Amino acid sequence: MQTALSEAMASLTSHRETVLSETLAEEFTSDANRFQRFHVILDDLLFDFSKQRIDNRTIALLASLAKAADVEAKRDAMFRGEIVNTTERRAALHTALRDTSGECILVDGRNVARDISAERSRMLAFAADVRDGRRPGALGQPITDIVNIGIGGSDLGPAMATRALSPYIPSHLHAHFVSNVDGSDIADILRALDPARTLFIISSKTFTTQETMTNAASARDWIVGALGVKAVPDHFAAVSTRLDKVAEFGIELERTFVFWDWVGGRYSIWSSIGLPLAIAIGPSHFEEFLRGAHDVDQHFHQSVIHKNIPMLMGLISIWNRNFLGYASQAIIPYDQRLSRFPAYLQQLNMESNGKSVDLDGERVSVATGPIVWGEPGTNGQHAFFQLLHQGTEIAPIDFLLAAMPTHADRHHHDLLAANCLAQGEALMRGRSSGEAKKIAAALGTSNAEASRLAPHKTFSGSRPSSTFLYAQLNPRTLGRLIALYEHRVFVEAAIWNINPFDQWGVELGKELASRLAPIVADPNSDLSALDSSTAGLIAHIRKLRS
Ligand code: F6P
Repeated sequence: MQTALSEAMASLTSHRETVLSETLAEEFTSDANRFQRFHVILDDLLFDFSKQRIDNRTIALLASLAKAADVEAKRDAMFRGEIVNTTERRAALHTALRDTSGECILVDGRNVARDISAERSRMLAFAADVRDGRRPGALGQPITDIVNIGIGGSDLGPAMATRALSPYIPSHLHAHFVSNVDGSDIADILRALDPARTLFIISSKTFTTQETMTNAASARDWIVGALGVKAVPDHFAAVSTRLDKVAEFGIELERTFVFWDWVGGRYSIWSSIGLPLAIAIGPSHFEEFLRGAHDVDQHFHQSVIHKNIPMLMGLISIWNRNFLGYASQAIIPYDQRLSRFPAYLQQLNMESNGKSVDLDGERVSVATGPIVWGEPGTNGQHAFFQLLHQGTEIAPIDFLLAAMPTHADRHHHDLLAANCLAQGEALMRGRSSGEAKKIAAALGTSNAEASRLAPHKTFSGSRPSSTFLYAQLNPRTLGRLIALYEHRVFVEAAIWNINPFDQWGVELGKELASRLAPIVADPNSDLSALDSSTAGLIAHIRKLRS
């Protein structure tokens, strides 16, 4: 196995020079079928990877790499519910959360499909009740504002998806998301709300996360201050794996929705963590959202590698990261409603694959997870695209675009689409120095001036991008997009032989924050045990406060 893997890596390394010897523009000129060869369609969703720096042999070699790394067997093990999260000794069964077929899925000998279905029904019934005014506040008024309090996976998914699917939210309902322990986050949101019409959902897998528990306590104080302690049960619901801790906080069992330790935080939007989304868009749209993800699960499970979108996404990412040396991945949705999608994918990818040791605890020998970042287009064009076109760093880009808008103005959408397509084309094609001079000459610029400016107006081109094009941003499309990226992360991890389902790297900072909290709070506490920088900064806080 190891030899096959090393051989596949070596073949890809030597193949690199062949690919780089031609520009992307030349590839397109010499092969009229390039787009035909390098795109895959799943229902209405088209994945175009023809503007990546690849040829037929690249895909064949990457498929051999996937075979050598046993990616398909690892994928099947994940779907079966095997312990793929080895450091926490857990399955990773987010795929089961969107499988409504009723087929038995065993975890430790228990059919979790039944548990999932029962909890989903409870959660969706509650969501419908809140949405339709059957769960009023303590004073009998219908709930109009839902405030989700959570962080990381207990915030980013619901917040991103609720924004993405805002056309499905009735006008009487407003969803808000509080995540930061910075008190301005909750203060700014509560300022505009009426306690009598507000429902808080405390979302936390562990129900111990400092930020969430601090914000939950402040929310409780706000309700008690305005409506009295007896109002608390009508204004709180919870989502967690820890029923004991939820009960300790004082939220009723009937308004508590569970999920399980085999659902990773960043993979939890499909579970009860989706409650704010289900309230906002309604149960039937939430089920559509699950169906979209399930479509992709089946596609990922069943398609051959070179027609399998998440496989190709993962393999192209490996090619860009390990063979072409690109350290980051930009996500540029040409859709303002997907403004939080890059942040969501940041957690998904960077918390999953930001690892330096393999499954055996050995240091990895190749670079792992890229830095994921992005902003919606066209805004990004007027901010950081200069670097993407002419900078010394190359960042592969994923563009996302709907053929049809979810608003009535086609003119806006045509301009948006034209911009998206133009950016991909410009990055691919570039502009030679000769072309730059010709354009200048046509504008009447002198030869000397044209030559002086030509280096500044030249674009290297050959900058890789992929495009996801779909009919419209609806619940099913969003479900599909998220699942595609989840599986992409899995494919990368399977090749790197790392665990994408743990996140030990966030622990140290959490521990130190807990240790420093009382020291920051007490102006007389001893700083001598701290390093000089931390001590100096705390001393300066004290000085500024006094
Ligand atoms: O940042 C670490 C992390 O554990 C994430 O993985 C998780 O999504 C987030 O904190 C929130 O955790 P919890 O849902 O337990 O509050």
